[in-house]
Amino acid sequence: MTPSHNAQSSSRSCLAIVLAAGEGTRMKSARPKVLHQVANRSMLGHVLATLAQAGATSTAVVIGPDCEDVAKEVQKISSQARIFVQKDRLGTAHAVLSARESLAQPADDVIIAFGDTPLILPETFTKLRAPLAEGAAVVAMGFEAKDPTGYGRFITEGNELLAIREHRDASEVERLITLCNGGLMAIRGDLALTLLDRVENKNAKGEYYLTDIVEIARSLGHRMAIAVVSEEEVHGVNDRAQLAAAERMIQDRLRQAAMASGVTLIAPETVFFSHDTRLGQDVVVEPHVVFGPGVVVEEGAVIHSFSHLEGAQIASAAGVGPFARLRPGAAIGPKAKVGNFVEIKNTELGAGAKVSHLTYLGDASVGAEANIGAGTITCNYDGFAKHRTEIGEGAFIGSNSSLVAPISIGKGAFVGSGSVITENIPDDALGLGRGRQTIKEGWAILFRDKAQAAKRK
Ligand code: UD1
Ligand code: CA
Repeated sequence: MTPSHNAQSSSRSCLAIVLAAGEGTRMKSARPKVLHQVANRSMLGHVLATLAQAGATSTAVVIGPDCEDVAKEVQKISSQARIFVQKDRLGTAHAVLSARESLAQPADDVIIAFGDTPLILPETFTKLRAPLAEGAAVVAMGFEAKDPTGYGRFITEGNELLAIREHRDASEVERLITLCNGGLMAIRGDLALTLLDRVENKNAKGEYYLTDIVEIARSLGHRMAIAVVSEEEVHGVNDRAQLAAAERMIQDRLRQAAMASGVTLIAPETVFFSHDTRLGQDVVVEPHVVFGPGVVVEEGAVIHSFSHLEGAQIASAAGVGPFARLRPGAAIGPKAKVGNFVEIKNTELGAGAKVSHLTYLGDASVGAEANIGAGTITCNYDGFAKHRTEIGEGAFIGSNSSLVAPISIGKGAFVGSGSVITENIPDDALGLGRGRQTIKEGWAILFRDKAQAAKRK
């Protein structure tokens, strides 16, 4: 539901370098920081997808040593991206220079992004690149910080950016500046290596600072530019609280986008989306619904409260929930109904079919207009393999039946309630698989007499 963006607004080639070698010690996690997720996608994944949308023509990702998982995630999201390892963490300029081989190939623009800044929007990258086309050497991204502590400060004269001073290196007076460095930068491609190679490590941290290229470029007579964005967009994640804050902001964007596209959210703050959730017009989502990855809901469908959906397709005018669980491969047909306490996995439900209560359907296909009674279970797993259940159009499965797969139930067939079905049922037949009922007339009277006599003794 990310707003679509005209990525081809610029014909200039663009190399994106993503710094993802963060150690993430403050996350207290076995997982590398950039692989932590917001809206069900890694932070690094968000940044890479945004860069692709923003029209990056090549991408380089700088990762830390022994970060196989990070490399895998990069390949998954942008298979063309080149991966570089920064062996020693010597600063942001040093990190960028780890991608020297990519920088040596001429691109018109170079943009630097951080893997732990997932809220950045594609149009911001476009805004960042624009001054390069007009001759600026470096464009720095600034924001007005509520609390500037820890950020690099923009040292300006009029509209001119003179330098970026890291917090630790700033004077008392400079520390009063609230226009701060968001971290992301755009550099003219033909100058990038020249500027970066001149960076020295003479500062409070003893690191090679990317921000030093501002002063270096100026000393060579080049022009700087500033692009200002909201603080939210440059929100960086260093700990779990900041991760949760990023989640809140991204959820809010997804909710706003859903409503703007014609979806009714009765209590938007209680609905959680994935980055890739797709909802058609006039879909209604009741309070307390969670969308895992890969859900598509077509127009006019209603998702009732307390439902949890992932990897599911829901066709138009279908109804799901309350309290439904749709797992990967659930495909709910038009006008079909899935009711409370129903779990569906890897199953197609035909148009107008009804599964109203207390049912598990796994590895099955259900024909149009079939009716699945309360308590029906597909027994799809024998402890070793999964087996399929086929239910024909218009079939009627009586309540509390177990369908032992592999099994097929014909079109228009009936299953008597309480059956354990182990043999295929032909079209329009009745299948019964339960103990036959017997009637013993007057049995209760005899039973009571006997029981009362025994009690009197
Ligand atoms: C940086 C900026 C600062 C800005 C702030 C915004 C510099 C010198 N400072 O500071 O002006 O206000 O971001 O959040 O650029 N990284 C590497 N390898 C390294 C060092 C860093 O890959 O050797 C990566 C980190 O994983 C991170 C990014 O670069 O994604 C920024 O590094 P970090 O140390 O967090 O910089 P800050 O001190 O926050
Ligand atoms: Ca940081």
